[in-house]
Amino acid sequence: MEPLGRLRLGVNIDHVATVRNARGGDTPDPLRAAKIAEAAGADGITAHLREDRRHISDADIEGLMDVLDVPLNFEMAATDEMQAIALRHKPHAVCIVPEKREERTTEGGLEVAREENRLAHFIAPLRDAGCRVSIFIAADQRQIEAAHRIGAQVIELHSGAYCDAHHEGRFDDRDRELEAMRRMSTFAHDLGLEVHVGHGLTYETVQPVAAFPEAMELNIGHFLIGEAIFLGLDAAIREMRRLMDEART
Ligand code: PXP
Repeated sequence: MEPLGRLRLGVNIDHVATVRNARGGDTPDPLRAAKIAEAAGADGITAHLREDRRHISDADIEGLMDVLDVPLNFEMAATDEMQAIALRHKPHAVCIVPEKREERTTEGGLEVAREENRLAHFIAPLRDAGCRVSIFIAADQRQIEAAHRIGAQVIELHSGAYCDAHHEGRFDDRDRELEAMRRMSTFAHDLGLEVHVGHGLTYETVQPVAAFPEAMELNIGHFLIGEAIFLGLDAAIREMRRLMDEART
């Protein structure tokens, strides 16, 4: 069988900021983590500026735009405030994520179908500014079709339910979630959408997802930052990269 194309790894550095904010000082510095991630082979850096600024700050986004050599994937809620920040910085990519319970489907992705009109108007200026727009959704055909209709270029499939089922030992549920993501990757790809996957991925759960032929990018954060405590960030990322590459061959 032909080896699959290289899968991009986006490293999410939010939880470096979580640890920094626990003490209110300057360390550990998310920008330093981002540069280590770049050197370890990250193809992009992902950061979520939450409305309550619980981890990443406005200054972090500004700093990342200045120091990064790889693209920034700016995760944000669909609010006017976040749209203005994105339009000011014009990051390579924006990923629209739910923050409030009512914006979420039961599986945890963004409820696009119910808010199609508003979201179509919301993402249009971001696309016009040259940002690649991604929508974080569950593996649900209705949501994927809606993401396509509103003009998103990318969908990121929410892998949280799959990862939770694996780590809780609910293997039938895990396999069902994995199969749904696999089928919906093909469905989205056939519509012309680029497919990314993220949330909750670990060394144990990454390979079946990395083997999806249509997947172009995985975004991984919490596990890598946790693993960095034991291995160091560079080694933690290199091991994830190795597992991803192995799954593609
Ligand atoms: N992708 C998206 C859209 C996210 O919102 C997040 C983090 O919340 C991630 C990926 C990374 O998830 P994790 O930190 O669980 O690896």
